[in-house]
Amino acid sequence: DLPSCTQDPQTIEDNSPVYVGTEEDFKKCQRMTAVVHDREVVIFYHKGEYHAMDIRCYHSGGPLHLGEIEDFDGRTCIVCPWHKYKITLSTGEGLYQSINPKDPSAVPKWCSKGVKQRIHTVTVKNGHIYVTLSKASDFKCDSDFYATGQFKVIQRPS
Ligand code: FES
Repeated sequence: DLPSCTQDPQTIEDNSPVYVGTEEDFKKCQRMTAVVHDREVVIFYHKGEYHAMDIRCYHSGGPLHLGEIEDFDGRTCIVCPWHKYKITLSTGEGLYQSINPKDPSAVPKWCSKGVKQRIHTVTVKNGHIYVTLSKASDFKCDSDFYATGQFKVIQRPS
């Protein structure tokens, strides 16, 4: 009999930091894409800070690495190029504007849908940038759906 493997490969997580580039690279390009333990991420360098998140938008899988960065209500967001959803760079929250239907003349307010896009940790060491994946087993995030094989934008050479 063949030995059977009881561990589901989906549950195996590797959370060791992965090198993605140098500070110099980021200062030139401002953003980069990388494959970190088989998960595709985008890393932004914005106003002196690094932010990493899943590359495919939680809404419908749009390519966040092609979006514009803008501030909304004082929060810095990536705006998805497909349907203009706004995602905070620091927390992965989806922002939206709401209006009280009973008072249509009221000024729309910015609200959060909560964390929708999985963000990852960026560390800088001796001019080198590393990304550590957040633990997918700790909590579920809508962007996890688009982090699976069939939606990948960057294909690994096989
Ligand atoms: Fe990003 Fe729709 S896919 S807003």
